[in-house]
Amino acid sequence: MLELKQVSKSFGAKKVIDQLDLTIEDGSILAVVGPSGGGKTTLLRTLAGLETIDSGSFLLDGKAFDPTDTKEQEQVVGVVFQDFQLFPHLSVFENITLAPKMVLKQDKAAYTAKAEQLAEKLGLSDLLAQYPFQLSGGSGNGWLSHERWR
Ligand SMILES: Nc1ncnc2c1ncn2[C@@H]1O[C@H](COP(=O)(O)OP(=O)(O)OP(=O)(O)O)[C@@H](O)[C@H]1O
Ligand SMILES: [Mg+2]
Repeated sequence: MLELKQVSKSFGAKKVIDQLDLTIEDGSILAVVGPSGGGKTTLLRTLAGLETIDSGSFLLDGKAFDPTDTKEQEQVVGVVFQDFQLFPHLSVFENITLAPKMVLKQDKAAYTAKAEQLAEKLGLSDLLAQYPFQLSGGSGNGWLSHERWR
């Protein structure tokens, strides 16, 4: 469970987050909705440690948590990009195992097993060895785009 307690953030005289209390249960999905300039991105940036807060605190499972502490933040917060963000010179397998390998320092057997298990679950096992330029980009059923173009 992640909790925000009385979190505030201003840019100059502009208060963007004003004493926000928020509880996010494990496994829940939260949509942050509001007007343009309402502070949604700022809130996410503070959670990812990309922006400091002026006051308040974050708690993870009841324990104080500082998202700007790189060591803690890397272990806790993951960012999934809205658009296609894969390293072009790495295969699908290398792309999806990069974080567990470099950030979580998992050994090869562990991240390989997990990647293969997830790919199997999603029916994408055949794509693990492919490179991003060979992928369809999300629409359709995973056929390689160069095959479609033939
Ligand atoms: N680094 C910054 N320096 C100064 N002002 C900022 C900075 N980042 C955001 N702001 C201001 O803080 C306010 C909230 O911006 P934010 O990007 O969080 O809004 P948003 O809810 O994500 O908007 P949108 O729906 O348009 O994405 C805006 O007035 C914005 O101009
Ligand atoms: Mg935004």
